[in-house]
Order: sequence, then C-alpha cells, then structure tokens
Amino acid sequence: MTRKILITSALPYANGAIHLGHLVEYIQTDIWARFQKSRGHECHYVCADDTHGTAIMLRAENEGITPEALIGRVHGEHLRDFSGFHIDFDNYYSTNSPENRTFAYEIYAKLKAKGKIVKKTKSQLYDPEKEMFLADRFVKGECPKCNAKEQYGDNCEVCGATYSPTELKNPVSIYSGATPVLRDTENLFFKLGDCTDFLKTWTNTPGKLQSEAANKMQEWLESGLNDWDISRHAPYFGFEIPDEPGKYFYVWLDAPVGYMSSHKNLCYRLGLDFDSYWHKDSSAELHHFIGKDILTFHSLFWPAILETADLRTPSAIHVHG
Ligand code: MF3
Ligand code: ZN
Repeated sequence: MTRKILITSALPYANGAIHLGHLVEYIQTDIWARFQKSRGHECHYVCADDTHGTAIMLRAENEGITPEALIGRVHGEHLRDFSGFHIDFDNYYSTNSPENRTFAYEIYAKLKAKGKIVKKTKSQLYDPEKEMFLADRFVKGECPKCNAKEQYGDNCEVCGATYSPTELKNPVSIYSGATPVLRDTENLFFKLGDCTDFLKTWTNTPGKLQSEAANKMQEWLESGLNDWDISRHAPYFGFEIPDEPGKYFYVWLDAPVGYMSSHKNLCYRLGLDFDSYWHKDSSAELHHFIGKDILTFHSLFWPAILETADLRTPSAIHVHG
C-alpha cells in the first residue's frame, strides 16, 4: 500500500546560522524521508525559516536593517548550508509568508468562534526607555531566593529556583539597562486546559510519542494545564492579530503553522491535494522531528490547536536530545 507521508523538521530561527546541533536533526529527518521515498511512498519533507519574534526584531535593529531584509538574507544562508550538507527538502519556505498569515488567521478565527480565546489583564515588566514589554529572558537581576547576581527573569542558574520576573531583585532590562516598571497589559490566551481530555487520549495512543516523551506529557497533564498567552505587544515583528490593533501573535503561535504553509506552497507548485493531508479524518501521515526542548509546543499546544481548529493532528512526534 502506498502511504502518504508528510515529514517536517523544526523550523530554525531566522536570526542566526545553522550549526552542527541543527544538523543532527535535519540529517536524521533527511535519512528517514529518503528511506520512505525509496520504499515508493508518496512522501514530502518540508521545512521553513521561523522568522517572527523579538529576537529577530532586535537583531535587525542592531544591524541597522529591516527585519524583512534580515530574514531574506538568512533564508539564503540557511538554504546554502542545507544544500551543502545534501539535506533534500521538497520545500524550504518562510513563516513570514502570505500562506502562513492566512492559516494563522483562519485557525485563530476558529479558536475564537469556539470560545477558546479569553482576554486577561496581567502586570508585566516594561522597559520605559525602549518602550516595550519585556519577556522573562530579557530581564536580569538578583535571584529572589539565593541573591545570585545576573540571573534571568524565569529561573536561577545558581540555585535552580523558578519564579516570575517581577520577583527579581534590582531588575534591569537587557536592552537598555533601564530599570523596568510594572504596567498592566491585556493579553489573549488560548484555553489549553479545555483540551486536557483530548491530550490525555492523544498521548496514550500508541506510536504518537516515545515513552520518555509520553512520561513527560503525563507529568504536565497531571500538574494541570494553564491558559496559554498567545499575544505580544507592539513593537513586535510578526502578524498583527485581527481586530486587536497593537497586538501580535506570539511567534510560537504561527511557527508550527509554518509546517502547513510550507506544505501548501509545495502542493501549489506540484498540483497536489493539500486538503487530503490536513482535513480532520485524513489518512495521510504527519511526522514531526524535533529536539526535546520544544516538546511542549509540539505535544501540547500544537495538537490542541489543530484539534480545536478541526484539523488533523500529528501521527507521531520524533524527539531527539
Ligand atoms: N524556531 C524554533 C526553535 O529553533 C523551532 C520552531 S518549530 C515550529 O526552537 F514548530 F514552531 F515551527
Ligand atoms: Zn538562586
């Protein structure tokens, strides 16, 4: 029987060069894709640059160029390096593409229509000089527990404590060195907790996850799933959220959607039937190869979003160290 198999590797950030750590993943995925093709299956291996977010915006600013110019240049560099290592993608695309905007908007509209998007106000650290909200890793200060200096806003590398950035002592913004102030912000959240039953079943379906990954999932599910903050405030390089001026999709919302967009773009070029791969009851297979650090995004958020948007969910996630 000929199987229809869509294979992906994680989308590399467009703010830096491909290194050997990346290649561990792309080479193993490439081997598996070549193997499936050699068996005569209809098989496509797609990838793309992950182009949005604060890191890319600031990198472009430091280089004195636009984010678009930066991601354009890096796309060329990434492709050059991948072909140098004979990584045989069927398509290598970009999350800053019209297809990706369309899918991100469609998926968001679906989540919203189902009542799975909620607004909440929270107090967040704000850099008064840069005039922007600061993510956890963009604030440094002293650990609230052991007083170690120069610790990031999410956890202490000296004593291992985890905390919120507002608990840091003597916090400074890593951009400007300014002392951050607290400001109320209204953010949009995806009600991940509503997908708990679905995720339990999904995790326990044989073949989806390696046992180590399934065990980790079990831990997360047992400790309870919080709403997921999917919005970020301007200035941000990404897709502005419809009807929410000044708010953008968090990069991790539209990044995995890039798998769909790259595949859509390939189907368009080759005249293939995209929907037959992505509709809810598709018998085509979808395999994601990823590193262990991004397991939450692929085994919690991504399947939950696909399921809620009435799309197919992954056949398997292949996780490496
Ligand atoms: N750019 C991310 C990283 O390097 C991976 C994105 S994978 C995707 O960690 F699913 F979001 F696309
Ligand atoms: Zn500490």
